[in-house]
Amino acid sequence: MIAINDIVAASHFFIARSVRPGDTVVDATAGNGGDTVFLAGLVGPAGRVHAFDIQKTALDRAGKRLKEEGLEERVRLHLASHARMAEYLDRPVQGIMFNLGYLPGGDKEVITRPQETLGALASGLSLLGPGGLISITTYPGHPGGEEEEQGVAGWCAGLEPRRYTVFHLQVLNRLKPPPGLWLIRG
Ligand SMILES: C[S@@+](CC[C@H](N)C(=O)[O-])C[C@H]1O[C@@H](n2cnc3c(N)ncnc32)[C@H](O)[C@@H]1O
Repeated sequence: MIAINDIVAASHFFIARSVRPGDTVVDATAGNGGDTVFLAGLVGPAGRVHAFDIQKTALDRAGKRLKEEGLEERVRLHLASHARMAEYLDRPVQGIMFNLGYLPGGDKEVITRPQETLGALASGLSLLGPGGLISITTYPGHPGGEEEEQGVAGWCAGLEPRRYTVFHLQVLNRLKPPPGLWLIRG
Protein backbone atom coordinates (compact mmCIF):
# COMPACT_ATOMS: atom_id res chain seq x y z
CA MET A 1 0.00 0.00 0.00
CA ILE A 2 1.38 3.40 -1.01
CA ALA A 3 0.53 6.29 1.31
CA ILE A 4 -0.34 9.40 -0.72
CA ASN A 5 1.29 11.86 1.66
CA ASP A 6 2.75 14.18 -0.96
CA ILE A 7 2.31 14.98 -4.61
CA VAL A 8 5.18 12.76 -5.81
CA ALA A 9 3.75 9.81 -3.86
CA ALA A 10 0.42 10.55 -5.55
CA SER A 11 2.09 10.45 -8.99
CA HIS A 12 3.62 7.07 -8.07
CA PHE A 13 0.24 5.79 -6.89
CA PHE A 14 -1.37 6.43 -10.28
CA ILE A 15 1.59 5.39 -12.43
CA ALA A 16 1.81 2.08 -10.53
CA ARG A 17 -1.74 1.32 -11.67
CA SER A 18 -0.91 1.81 -15.36
CA VAL A 19 2.48 0.12 -15.70
CA ARG A 20 3.07 -3.65 -15.70
CA PRO A 21 6.18 -5.83 -15.66
CA GLY A 22 7.74 -5.93 -19.13
CA ASP A 23 6.49 -2.45 -20.14
CA THR A 24 8.58 0.34 -21.64
CA VAL A 25 8.29 3.66 -19.79
CA VAL A 26 9.91 7.11 -19.74
CA ASP A 27 11.27 9.23 -16.93
CA ALA A 28 11.33 12.60 -18.71
CA THR A 29 13.24 14.34 -15.88
CA ALA A 30 15.65 11.87 -14.25
CA GLY A 31 17.08 14.31 -11.68
CA ASN A 32 18.37 12.46 -8.63
CA GLY A 33 16.83 9.20 -9.84
CA GLY A 34 13.97 8.75 -7.37
CA ASP A 35 11.35 8.34 -10.07
CA THR A 36 13.72 6.33 -12.27
CA VAL A 37 14.30 3.79 -9.49
CA PHE A 38 10.55 3.64 -8.87
CA LEU A 39 9.82 3.00 -12.57
CA ALA A 40 12.59 0.41 -12.85
CA GLY A 41 10.97 -1.49 -9.98
CA LEU A 42 7.60 -1.44 -11.75
CA VAL A 43 8.77 -2.67 -15.17
CA GLY A 44 10.83 -5.52 -13.72
CA PRO A 45 13.77 -7.31 -15.38
CA ALA A 46 11.95 -7.68 -18.73
CA GLY A 47 10.98 -4.01 -18.96
CA ARG A 48 12.81 -0.86 -19.94
CA VAL A 49 13.02 2.67 -18.55
CA HIS A 50 14.31 5.50 -20.73
CA ALA A 51 15.39 8.37 -18.48
CA PHE A 52 16.28 11.84 -19.76
CA ASP A 53 18.04 14.81 -18.25
CA ILE A 54 20.05 17.71 -19.66
CA GLN A 55 22.48 17.73 -16.69
CA LYS A 56 25.27 15.20 -16.41
CA THR A 57 25.28 15.69 -12.62
CA ALA A 58 21.70 14.47 -12.53
CA LEU A 59 22.38 11.38 -14.62
CA ASP A 60 25.48 10.58 -12.54
CA ARG A 61 23.39 10.70 -9.36
CA ALA A 62 20.56 8.67 -10.92
CA GLY A 63 23.04 6.11 -12.28
CA LYS A 64 24.69 5.73 -8.86
CA ARG A 65 21.33 5.17 -7.23
CA LEU A 66 20.30 2.59 -9.83
CA LYS A 67 23.57 0.71 -9.34
CA GLU A 68 23.10 0.65 -5.57
CA GLU A 69 19.64 -0.87 -6.13
CA GLY A 70 20.92 -3.33 -8.77
CA LEU A 71 18.51 -1.87 -11.35
CA GLU A 72 20.89 -0.36 -13.93
CA GLU A 73 20.29 -3.11 -16.54
CA ARG A 74 16.65 -2.04 -16.92
CA VAL A 75 17.42 1.61 -17.53
CA ARG A 76 18.87 3.66 -20.38
CA LEU A 77 20.07 7.08 -19.26
CA HIS A 78 20.06 9.74 -21.98
CA LEU A 79 21.91 13.03 -21.66
CA ALA A 80 19.33 14.77 -23.83
CA SER A 81 16.27 16.95 -23.57
CA HIS A 82 12.97 15.17 -23.13
CA ALA A 83 11.83 17.09 -26.22
CA ARG A 84 13.92 14.55 -28.15
CA MET A 85 12.50 11.41 -26.52
CA ALA A 86 10.96 10.11 -29.76
CA GLU A 87 14.47 9.69 -31.22
CA TYR A 88 15.28 7.11 -28.52
CA LEU A 89 12.07 5.08 -28.56
CA ASP A 90 10.89 2.58 -31.13
CA ARG A 91 7.72 1.34 -29.42
CA PRO A 92 4.68 2.66 -27.51
CA VAL A 93 5.17 3.40 -23.83
CA GLN A 94 2.76 2.77 -20.93
CA GLY A 95 3.95 5.48 -18.57
CA ILE A 96 5.74 8.82 -18.81
CA MET A 97 6.67 10.85 -15.74
CA PHE A 98 7.52 14.56 -15.82
CA ASN A 99 8.71 15.94 -12.50
CA LEU A 100 9.36 19.55 -13.49
CA GLY A 101 11.48 22.32 -12.04
CA TYR A 102 15.10 22.25 -10.87
CA LEU A 103 17.41 19.50 -9.63
CA PRO A 104 17.08 19.24 -5.82
CA GLY A 105 20.54 19.88 -4.38
CA GLY A 106 21.70 21.22 -7.75
CA ASP A 107 21.78 24.44 -9.80
CA LYS A 108 18.43 26.19 -9.28
CA GLU A 109 18.96 28.22 -12.46
CA VAL A 110 18.69 25.10 -14.62
CA ILE A 111 14.96 24.52 -14.79
CA THR A 112 12.50 22.92 -17.16
CA ARG A 113 11.17 25.56 -19.59
CA PRO A 114 7.57 25.85 -20.81
CA GLN A 115 8.24 25.70 -24.54
CA GLU A 116 10.51 22.66 -24.24
CA THR A 117 8.13 21.00 -21.76
CA LEU A 118 5.10 21.43 -24.02
CA GLY A 119 7.05 20.06 -27.00
CA ALA A 120 8.05 17.03 -24.91
CA LEU A 121 4.46 16.51 -23.75
CA ALA A 122 3.23 16.49 -27.35
CA SER A 123 5.94 14.01 -28.23
CA GLY A 124 5.08 11.88 -25.19
CA LEU A 125 1.42 11.84 -26.11
CA SER A 126 2.24 10.50 -29.58
CA LEU A 127 4.25 7.66 -27.96
CA LEU A 128 1.65 6.72 -25.35
CA GLY A 129 0.07 3.29 -25.76
CA PRO A 130 -3.64 2.58 -25.12
CA GLY A 131 -4.40 2.82 -21.39
CA GLY A 132 -1.02 4.44 -20.74
CA LEU A 133 -0.58 7.37 -18.35
CA ILE A 134 1.42 10.61 -18.40
CA SER A 135 2.01 12.25 -15.02
CA ILE A 136 3.26 15.82 -14.72
CA THR A 137 4.25 17.34 -11.39
CA THR A 138 4.42 21.13 -11.47
CA TYR A 139 6.04 23.48 -8.95
CA PRO A 140 4.71 27.05 -9.18
CA GLY A 141 6.75 28.21 -6.17
CA HIS A 142 10.08 28.88 -7.94
CA PRO A 143 10.81 31.61 -10.52
CA GLY A 144 9.40 30.47 -13.85
CA GLY A 145 7.41 27.67 -12.23
CA GLU A 146 4.04 29.40 -12.27
CA GLU A 147 4.33 30.29 -15.95
CA GLU A 148 5.24 26.69 -16.71
CA GLU A 149 2.30 25.37 -14.67
CA GLN A 150 -0.08 27.66 -16.56
CA GLY A 151 1.33 26.37 -19.84
CA VAL A 152 0.79 22.76 -18.72
CA ALA A 153 -2.75 23.58 -17.54
CA GLY A 154 -3.68 25.17 -20.87
CA TRP A 155 -2.16 22.32 -22.87
CA CYS A 156 -3.98 19.69 -20.77
CA ALA A 157 -7.31 21.52 -20.99
CA GLY A 158 -7.03 21.58 -24.79
CA LEU A 159 -6.67 17.81 -25.22
CA GLU A 160 -9.38 16.07 -27.26
CA PRO A 161 -11.99 14.99 -24.67
CA ARG A 162 -13.19 11.92 -26.60
CA ARG A 163 -9.63 10.59 -26.75
CA TYR A 164 -8.00 11.58 -23.44
CA THR A 165 -9.02 11.96 -19.81
CA VAL A 166 -7.17 14.59 -17.79
CA PHE A 167 -7.14 14.89 -14.00
CA HIS A 168 -5.62 17.61 -11.86
CA LEU A 169 -4.73 17.18 -8.19
CA GLN A 170 -3.46 19.85 -5.86
CA VAL A 171 -2.51 20.03 -2.20
CA LEU A 172 -4.71 22.91 -1.00
CA ASN A 173 -3.76 23.40 2.66
CA ARG A 174 -0.31 24.92 2.05
CA LEU A 175 0.89 28.48 2.55
CA LYS A 176 3.38 28.41 -0.33
CA PRO A 177 2.08 27.98 -3.90
CA PRO A 178 1.26 24.25 -3.80
CA PRO A 179 2.64 21.78 -6.33
CA GLY A 180 0.19 20.24 -8.76
CA LEU A 181 -0.22 16.84 -10.38
CA TRP A 182 -1.63 16.44 -13.87
CA LEU A 183 -2.60 13.01 -15.18
CA ILE A 184 -3.38 12.19 -18.79
CA ARG A 185 -4.90 8.80 -19.59
CA GLY A 186 -4.28 7.66 -23.18
C1 LIG B 1 12.59 18.17 -10.13
S1 LIG B 1 13.98 17.51 -10.97
C2 LIG B 1 13.50 15.83 -11.26
C3 LIG B 1 13.45 14.98 -10.02
C4 LIG B 1 13.63 13.50 -10.30
N1 LIG B 1 12.57 12.93 -11.09
C5 LIG B 1 13.88 12.70 -9.04
O1 LIG B 1 13.13 11.76 -8.73
O2 LIG B 1 14.85 13.01 -8.37
C6 LIG B 1 13.87 18.23 -12.59
C7 LIG B 1 14.97 17.78 -13.52
O3 LIG B 1 14.60 18.17 -14.85
C8 LIG B 1 15.79 18.37 -15.56
N2 LIG B 1 15.54 19.07 -16.84
C9 LIG B 1 15.44 20.41 -17.09
N3 LIG B 1 15.18 20.62 -18.38
C10 LIG B 1 15.12 19.39 -18.98
C11 LIG B 1 14.88 18.95 -20.33
N4 LIG B 1 14.66 19.83 -21.30
N5 LIG B 1 14.91 17.63 -20.58
C12 LIG B 1 15.13 16.73 -19.57
N6 LIG B 1 15.35 17.09 -18.29
C13 LIG B 1 15.35 18.41 -17.99
C14 LIG B 1 16.67 19.13 -14.58
O4 LIG B 1 18.02 19.06 -14.95
C15 LIG B 1 16.33 18.41 -13.27
O5 LIG B 1 17.28 17.42 -12.98
